[in-house]
Amino acid sequence: MRTIDQVALHGRRVLIRVDFNVPIENGEVTSEARIANALPTIRYALDEGAKVILASHLGRPKGEPRPELAMAPVAKKLRLMLGPEIKVGMAPDCIGSAVEALVEKMNPGEVVLLENLRFHAGEEANFPGFAFALSKLCDIYINDAFGTAHRAHASTTGIVGHVPEAAAGFLLLKEVKILSGLLTSPPKPFVAIVGGAKVSDKIQLLAKLLSRVDSVLIGGAMAYTFLKAQGHQVGASRIEEDRLPLAGRLLDEAAKQGVKFELPEDHIAAAEFSRDAERIKVGGVDIPEGLMGLDIGPKTIDRFKHSISEAATVFWNGPMGVFEWDTFARGTLEVANAVADSSAKSFVGGGDSVAALTKSGRAGDITHISTGGGASLEFLEGRILPGIAALEFKGR
Ligand code: 3PG
Repeated sequence: MRTIDQVALHGRRVLIRVDFNVPIENGEVTSEARIANALPTIRYALDEGAKVILASHLGRPKGEPRPELAMAPVAKKLRLMLGPEIKVGMAPDCIGSAVEALVEKMNPGEVVLLENLRFHAGEEANFPGFAFALSKLCDIYINDAFGTAHRAHASTTGIVGHVPEAAAGFLLLKEVKILSGLLTSPPKPFVAIVGGAKVSDKIQLLAKLLSRVDSVLIGGAMAYTFLKAQGHQVGASRIEEDRLPLAGRLLDEAAKQGVKFELPEDHIAAAEFSRDAERIKVGGVDIPEGLMGLDIGPKTIDRFKHSISEAATVFWNGPMGVFEWDTFARGTLEVANAVADSSAKSFVGGGDSVAALTKSGRAGDITHISTGGGASLEFLEGRILPGIAALEFKGR
């Protein structure tokens, strides 16, 4: 795989695929970690005298322009982070003649941020026409979007076939190096903490993780599917009915492989899914009818903290509850502190987990914070990520 420092960038139009899929509230970026992590590649390209075109998706607009998912807040944050001496323009779209004209006028050392790639259906569908339209904006393509490397989209794979030169950015390379080490020689015991709302994305991946870890701690929405599969009452909690058989098989498989599968034994629940909902403690594993679990309870927190304290390697992906709302944030913040306090080598992936660490002020105490959520999990599963495969193929 070619790397950015093996390519001559001076005076050339360099399209860098970044993962600026960052949380935004009231028009402001609330966690800048993903932007900060892309800065070494962006600054390197600027220092080399490239015209830097940045491309990213934001959220899941499903091929339609959605004002609340526009990239303007990201451009604003990027300007602050790069400083006043770097000109950062915001393109009206990500492809088309107006964007081409804007890029045409760029000087070396300047940046243009393209509008959300997913405002076009061609991005996720990997339409050759869309990939070609993107490729027209550049002479060189750099992929630095590790967080999106598990998606075979136009901007991560399709475009590579249309550009004369393609290479990996520094963030992509760093992630691959560190996570490869976690796959091959993790100090034992290896504890994986998995939570969050993307249940169907993660439940399959957990199956693969089982062969590498000694224990798995489950929190967040996915826990209720496992508890239901065990025959517990989960009240009105979010579950995925169609994944129940698989969840049951995973529990059996974990038992067979001697992997400790730790599920919540108490909960913080509410009668409605709302920021202002009353916080109700459920002291046992069963959740009464009409209540939904929105965070792990204090007994679970203590047990999870104990398991984390005994680990030599910890991997954490996904919050333990609805941590964006203070009422239901405690489980996630306590896990964040426990991971930060532990003497284990700690690896954290996923925008939400990283935001929780930042919120608790402990991000600096983690061995490696990955910018990839789904990507880091798929990488740990041992899969070849399409975004990386495309670069490797091109490099042959
Ligand atoms: C992420 O946040 O995991 C990446 O940006 C990919 O986003 P996606 O899951 O919407 O493809």
